[in-house]
Amino acid sequence: MRVTIVGSGYVGLVAGACFADSGNDVICVDVDQHKIDMLKRNEIPIYEPGLKEMVERNAREERLLFTTDIKEGVEKSEIIFIAVGTPPDEDGSADLKYVLAVARDIGKHMNGYKVVVDKSTVPVGTADKVRAEISKHTKLEFDVVSNPEFLKEGAALDDFLKPDRVVIGTESERAAEVMRNLYGPFVRSGKPILVMDTKSAEVTKYAANAMLATKISFMNEMANLCDVVGANVENVRRGIGSDSRIGSAFIFAGTGYGGSCFPKDVKAIIKTAKDYGRELKILQAVEEVNDLQKTVLLPKIKSYFKNDLKGKTIAIWGLSFKPKTDDMREAPAINLIDGLIAAGATIHAHDPEALHEAERRFGGHVGKEIILLDKRYEALEQADGLVIMTEWNQFREPDFNLIKELLKTPVIFDGRNLYDPARMKKQGFDYFSIGRPMPEFFVKA
Ligand SMILES: NC(=O)c1ccc[n+]([C@@H]2O[C@H](COP(=O)([O-])OP(=O)(O)OC[C@H]3O[C@@H](n4cnc5c(N)ncnc54)[C@H](O)[C@@H]3O)[C@@H](O)[C@H]2O)c1
Repeated sequence: MRVTIVGSGYVGLVAGACFADSGNDVICVDVDQHKIDMLKRNEIPIYEPGLKEMVERNAREERLLFTTDIKEGVEKSEIIFIAVGTPPDEDGSADLKYVLAVARDIGKHMNGYKVVVDKSTVPVGTADKVRAEISKHTKLEFDVVSNPEFLKEGAALDDFLKPDRVVIGTESERAAEVMRNLYGPFVRSGKPILVMDTKSAEVTKYAANAMLATKISFMNEMANLCDVVGANVENVRRGIGSDSRIGSAFIFAGTGYGGSCFPKDVKAIIKTAKDYGRELKILQAVEEVNDLQKTVLLPKIKSYFKNDLKGKTIAIWGLSFKPKTDDMREAPAINLIDGLIAAGATIHAHDPEALHEAERRFGGHVGKEIILLDKRYEALEQADGLVIMTEWNQFREPDFNLIKELLKTPVIFDGRNLYDPARMKKQGFDYFSIGRPMPEFFVKA
């Protein structure tokens, strides 16, 4: 099949590479000339495990092309995906200007029947808007399909190649057939292709992310309760996760969710409900809990240093919102760093992949209040304490003796519960994590 993907970011590029890898001829379009130039040179603008090899292989075998020319993309393919960003507008709603700009371009350049697929996460009713926009510019026949994406950054290829389900929202049997054929190779193990109406497909994506965000905020609230009553949230997690009705995924306590999806999607579904005169009370609380959780370590750090962070240097391991990605959108590390700087501290930050992103994000602060370091132990030199913000694998089993030697004070604030409190105590650290007491608590009891 001939497939065009408009928008070559995390979702578009992964989708394009995976469709090409299953034998389709794929054109990836983007307005960003720099990005397209990089891709043509086989340079991948984002970090995603395995993606470089897959793009390289399919580009070499001429199944994957890159262009800024949307006309070429529209004319040459029957299936056209819209995979551009849908960032939050000021009022929290998803900004559809990029999606509708692509719809307009598709309408202008159509030369025959097309299946136009909304892959971006878009509010309910967007398929109708896309249909209306295309119709303004063409009399030719086309169908609009809502096909939300559920991939996780850091495991995007695997998620795309082996999805738990594929959701296809369409009112057209012809378009449904095209989509079933396109996704056939990815569901050979028997995972379902769920064909439904477009509005249900649009809501499904938001409901999935809202449910996952809810699990995270729920567990963070339990962790904060454990903190004050002296329980251990890890035990609670194991206790409830083994209940098959609850499940063990997505119930790890931490410093809150970030990234390009959960924060904006929770906001957007709340706004959609408001537009229809409804309040989503649970999700409003989920958001509120998450905003507080992002800085849950700050009072602990301040109180440890007797409310005086002026002249103190805090080392931070982990800047991306989760491991195996360089994505720092809405990362809790940003909130913490802002808070620490406001309190007068200097930051020594290390991340295995996100340093270039941090440089862009923190701009004028870099080289002054924020020093970015390539090597994890370099970040500890002259630092008063260490904070862990992302659970990268390489932080799980570090040389604790060296950490102790390098830090001015042997203190670790662990926002991801990577280490065992008893072991930390034995190693001579003051150790603070999320919802887990130090061992002496139990001795007292
Ligand atoms: N990142 C994720 O993990 C993820 C997962 C599922 C769904 N989504 C959703 O998928 C959509 C895309 O997300 P992303 O993370 O890939 O975004 P991204 O910002 O990484 O990529 C979007 C790309 O679209 C390009 N673009 C913008 N306007 C364009 C136009 N008119 N023509 C061509 N290209 C254009 C941009 O230059 C950019 O390269 C969003 O709606 C997002 O919510 C993202």
